[in-house]
Amino acid sequence: MMENKQLKSTKGILLAGGSGTRLYPLTLVSSKQLLPIYDKPMIYYPLTTLMLAGIRDIMIISTPQDIPQIKRLLGDGSDLGLRFEYCVQPKPDGIAQAFILAEEWLDQSPCVLVLGDNLIFAPHLSQLLQKASQRKSGATIFSYQVSDPERYGVVTFDENNKVTQIIEKPTNPPSNWAVTGLYFYDSKVTEYAKCIKPSDRGEYEITDLNQIYLENDDLHVERLGRGCAWLDAGVPASLMQASNFVQMIQARQGILVGSPAEVAYHRGFIDAEQLRKIAKKLLKTDLGRMLMDVANEGLGEKK
Ligand code: TTP
Repeated sequence: MMENKQLKSTKGILLAGGSGTRLYPLTLVSSKQLLPIYDKPMIYYPLTTLMLAGIRDIMIISTPQDIPQIKRLLGDGSDLGLRFEYCVQPKPDGIAQAFILAEEWLDQSPCVLVLGDNLIFAPHLSQLLQKASQRKSGATIFSYQVSDPERYGVVTFDENNKVTQIIEKPTNPPSNWAVTGLYFYDSKVTEYAKCIKPSDRGEYEITDLNQIYLENDDLHVERLGRGCAWLDAGVPASLMQASNFVQMIQARQGILVGSPAEVAYHRGFIDAEQLRKIAKKLLKTDLGRMLMDVANEGLGEKK
């Protein structure tokens, strides 16, 4: 009999643990991912990114002490037309550990990982994400030109725009192209993640995973250009910049940035009545009023 090879749909992992030591004392009692970016908890922004990629099955990974609060905020996802699974990472042993923790749940599905402190704002983001999602094999990562590449994984390109090298936190960065916290992988990701050994700093490095895809000639890098914003809110200055950015765009353009409810509505995960129900609870805020407008009049940019 012929084997019934059904294509599995892509799942998402939102990695929202870590220790947040660069934000002390802000993160001594609160998860970094629950701190505010202007008018919303930080975790809303990466969640929205996964939703824009069309993903509805999402595993949220965090620390033993932060999982209960994140659950209180996000629930089981059903009010957004999503399905959340929660998973504890006992210690911050590195980003690539996410795939080991999620192995059973992933069940060899392709998957997208987003870091809980990353905010991406780009024109036609959903098209860009869906293009990455449609790639049948390999990995797709996104890079962005920054002035402080030594803080990140850094990529270099040859004259044909093909990635040649990927290095974690280089002392002398060979380029300004940093790797952002958004990664698309095919179904082999867990198998590869299991091959990684902890680095000198004792972490399962995401750069080592990407290196495996690079060696297999299966690593795609999309460059986010000038019109895009990528912010990671890992230090006080970037936390403030992210808040200022969101406030500025929302006030100037009258659109929402990082609202899971709005994206759920525009993607057809929920209907106008459900959006109204969510907005009603927030009516003392601009966010709630903007959501109500979207539900009532179909206002706002369709993403
Ligand atoms: P980092 O900013 O590299 O680490 P951190 O959040 O622990 O902060 P600090 O360096 O200030 O101590 O983490 C990037 C994102 O990935 C962040 O959202 C936390 C998450 N993360 C985990 O959930 N588990 C991990 O093991 C690591 C390393 C990071």
